[in-house]
Amino acid sequence: MRRKIVAGNWKMNKSLAQGLQLFDDIINSPDHQQTNVLTIIAPSFIHLSAVAEKVKTNPNIAVAAQNCHHLSSGAYTGEVSAEMIKSAGAEYVIIGHSERRLYNNETIDLLIQKVNIALKNKLTPIFCIGENSDERHSNKHLEAIKFQLKDTLFHLSAIDFGKLIIAYEPVWAIGTGVTATSHQAQGMHNFIRAEINKKYGKEISEQITILYGGSCNPQNAKELFSCLDVDGGLIGGSSLKATDFISICNSF
Ligand code: PGA
Repeated sequence: MRRKIVAGNWKMNKSLAQGLQLFDDIINSPDHQQTNVLTIIAPSFIHLSAVAEKVKTNPNIAVAAQNCHHLSSGAYTGEVSAEMIKSAGAEYVIIGHSERRLYNNETIDLLIQKVNIALKNKLTPIFCIGENSDERHSNKHLEAIKFQLKDTLFHLSAIDFGKLIIAYEPVWAIGTGVTATSHQAQGMHNFIRAEINKKYGKEISEQITILYGGSCNPQNAKELFSCLDVDGGLIGGSSLKATDFISICNSF
């Protein structure tokens, strides 16, 4: 059985005090005591260790970085390595988010290196894929996703691929208030699982967690999460308010 996961991507939001308060409001809430859902929080780099310190004793909550550098160490001013992230107490790292692909020119080559170095440092990549609105409107969305999977992830061995979490995030839905319908989400998640099945076989494709991301909120989470191949969500805007985020965690 695939574990349900709700991951909150705080992006470039919250001071340290605000982030710790939000975290406390989430885990101390009597409404957030479910053990069948893994909650992952992705604060900014500089808040990672403070948040990770708080999750140590709770097996149902973990911490993710929002990015990592593609090389192991060296003279790269301002960058953060996978090893540093691991040493700060995070277990997960988001890689390939469309905002980083767009604003930081992250190429396929770079993303391959990031996945490899994350795995080498025993971090679980939450790898984001998603078509843009042109691809969706010209009916090229399946092809786009197929290439993203193949180009950035299918070099991995079956063992390493099995360690990943995939986040399907249609670019047109991120931060726009426009959510994929449950029909669109299920269709794509099922397609992703089928592509994985073709490459790695049934066991791996059935075991891999595929999250939906893009304007997921307390109003639409239940319907999205009820889809057979949707194992949870990667949540941006709605992860910044404890009651909204908790309500999404309770939407299975
Ligand atoms: P959103 O962001 O929930 O604000 O659309 C999702 C994401 O970027 O992961």
